[in-house]
Amino acid sequence: MIEKEKKIYLETYGCQMNLSDSEIINGILNESGLASTNDIAEADVILVNTCSIREHAEQRIYGRLGEFKSLKKRNPEIIIGVLGCMGERLRNKLQGEESKGIGQCVDIIVGPDEYRKLPNLIHNAWHGERGIAVQLSRVETYDDITPLRTNGVSAWISIMRGCDKFCSFCVVPFTRGRERSRRLKGIVAETFHLAEKGYKEITLLGQNVNSYRDGDKTFSDLLKAVAEVDSQLRIRFTTSHPQDMSDELIDTIAGKSNICKYIHLPVQSGSDRILSLMNRNYDTKHYKQLIKNIVSRISNVCISTDIISGFPTETEEDHRRTLDLMNELRFDGAFMFKYSAREHTAAYSLHDDIADDDKGTRINQIINLQNTISREINEKLIGKTVVVLAEGVSRKSPRQWHGRTDGNKMVIFAEGAYRAGDYLQTTITRVNSATLFGTLPVLSANPNGGTIV
Ligand code: 5AD
Ligand code: SF4
Repeated sequence: MIEKEKKIYLETYGCQMNLSDSEIINGILNESGLASTNDIAEADVILVNTCSIREHAEQRIYGRLGEFKSLKKRNPEIIIGVLGCMGERLRNKLQGEESKGIGQCVDIIVGPDEYRKLPNLIHNAWHGERGIAVQLSRVETYDDITPLRTNGVSAWISIMRGCDKFCSFCVVPFTRGRERSRRLKGIVAETFHLAEKGYKEITLLGQNVNSYRDGDKTFSDLLKAVAEVDSQLRIRFTTSHPQDMSDELIDTIAGKSNICKYIHLPVQSGSDRILSLMNRNYDTKHYKQLIKNIVSRISNVCISTDIISGFPTETEEDHRRTLDLMNELRFDGAFMFKYSAREHTAAYSLHDDIADDDKGTRINQIINLQNTISREINEKLIGKTVVVLAEGVSRKSPRQWHGRTDGNKMVIFAEGAYRAGDYLQTTITRVNSATLFGTLPVLSANPNGGTIV
């Protein structure tokens, strides 16, 4: 009797790095001959690539694992695997009491540096053996693995793994381990390959891309080399740390037309006292100077940031300083979070003393202010012509499409005689804080161009 082919379903939570890791995981599974499915109903193996960055992220995943537990009750043959940051962090808890019985439904636990072991662990699980692989590595970069990407316009390339910054609030150095970079040559070769396959936008990913190193080659060298692969390819990168963003890197961004004029530069707080407690290794003076430098060297640059509200001991005065900094620097956009205490981190030993209600009030003020600023910045674009990369049909309306400017602003425009991956010119007619709306676009020869007035 021929055994029915078993199928693997992979669900991903968290950051772009996790989405990129899931493509690596699918690449590994595919290479070993295992079949995947997008339909959980036909899955024999359910894998969850997890995120530990905040309590809320973990709670969501626990909820989902609860649902998988019920599935497994109905069909005990199903194999459940917890991958990624939560696997690393919760290896003991997931197997023990504290997971409220969820641990008992988990057959496989694999941390971010052990994905090569997955095919074996899955085969063993089919023979009734539970498996765990959570060693962190100083060298694993999955350099030789071909990620299984979904076809589209944009592709990610992970250029490094881990983080050595140890910001006091952040669990990443504990879940993803020490920082290590891939070889420049391999990244450039992968970019060639993706350009050949028709991708139009490459995002280079790392927890802190500024500390990328390959021998004496820096991130600036890498960015230049990747941008030179194909001038029709848009190049993005994330995330930068304000401590070590070099002038050379800023000039590289300014000097190459296909490097997007968009920088995500997390500030976290506008209070020097809090920044010091966060172990961020810069103060607001340094950060403001850096922004000034970026804005003066890169015309039409868009800058976004991350902000944490309610870090231990944060006073109303500290909070006000964050609002003041936002008013002064006027970011194009921001990702804004309530502080969440994470085990193992340095800040975990500080008393999480800001009441959740107060964190809520502060974060709402921060979000409202950012929305106002983003809308005001976007309003200035009304009547201007921008270049967008067409990505596909808008989720909200099938007669409309969406794309992004090189400053990473989402634009909605009418359906027309163009395809995903085309560069288009559209004139902005109205805006809100998150989105621009444009006229029926025409084709553009140019992948970039901030605004064409
Ligand atoms: N609580 C809240 N936000 C956090 N971040 C990282 N760790 C925490 C935490 N413990 C935010 C930071 C970081 C972004 C990726 O997530 O702002 O830049
Ligand atoms: Fe976390 Fe800081 Fe590293 Fe970013 S730089 S991943 S916030 S430790």
